[in-house]
Amino acid sequence: MPTELSRRGFLLATAGTLAALALPALPGLAHASSAHALPPLPYADNALEPVISARTIGFHYGKHHKAYLDNLNKLIAGRDYADLPLEDIVTRSYGPSGDAAVFNNAAQLWNHTFYWRSMRPNGGGVPPQALRERIEASFGSVDACRQQLAGAAIAQFGSGWAWLVQDGDKLRVVKTGNADNPITAGLTPLLNVDVWEHAYYLDYQNRRADYVNAVLDKLIDWEFAQRNLRA
Ligand SMILES: [Fe+2]
Repeated sequence: MPTELSRRGFLLATAGTLAALALPALPGLAHASSAHALPPLPYADNALEPVISARTIGFHYGKHHKAYLDNLNKLIAGRDYADLPLEDIVTRSYGPSGDAAVFNNAAQLWNHTFYWRSMRPNGGGVPPQALRERIEASFGSVDACRQQLAGAAIAQFGSGWAWLVQDGDKLRVVKTGNADNPITAGLTPLLNVDVWEHAYYLDYQNRRADYVNAVLDKLIDWEFAQRNLRA
């Protein structure tokens, strides 16, 4: 079943469809001509300031995210993976029978595209009603959900991600290490928070908790999470 991202075509956006999306891309960032392209940021590179600086976005999106894309395109060229949607590459390359290099780059490409869309300028606040009701049913309150998200993001040892996911009828918070993505466990991601050091070190140095709390309070896009809910 498609997620919000795949429905909107971000994950398999080609150079042609990128133009059609008419979303702002960072100046001077060339899109790959191969099967997978770098989805444009959904906002300007300084739109998340002062929580996340344009400098951090410049490195994170323009260097790190792009590197995962470039590596993936090199790794899958001429292989069966080359014709698959990104989500299928992620799930098929995962695990002992898969391909760790393909998985790491495919999952990080997916995770970062999802991360940019998990935030928006003037985010945070109260989730929209449908999501709020699901959160209250699973966590008791929005604040309890937020506390679990913050706790998972802060407690993740080393590089990784915190996620709000849908697991059947329930919502859950999970954390994953390195490139790991909940879709390999059959879960539906609703939003995520990047806690790799490259996400916050220029702005917060070692103060991960300050970054996590600021993202959750001021940037998180609950509307995006609601759009990812499955019936
Ligand atoms: Fe990252």
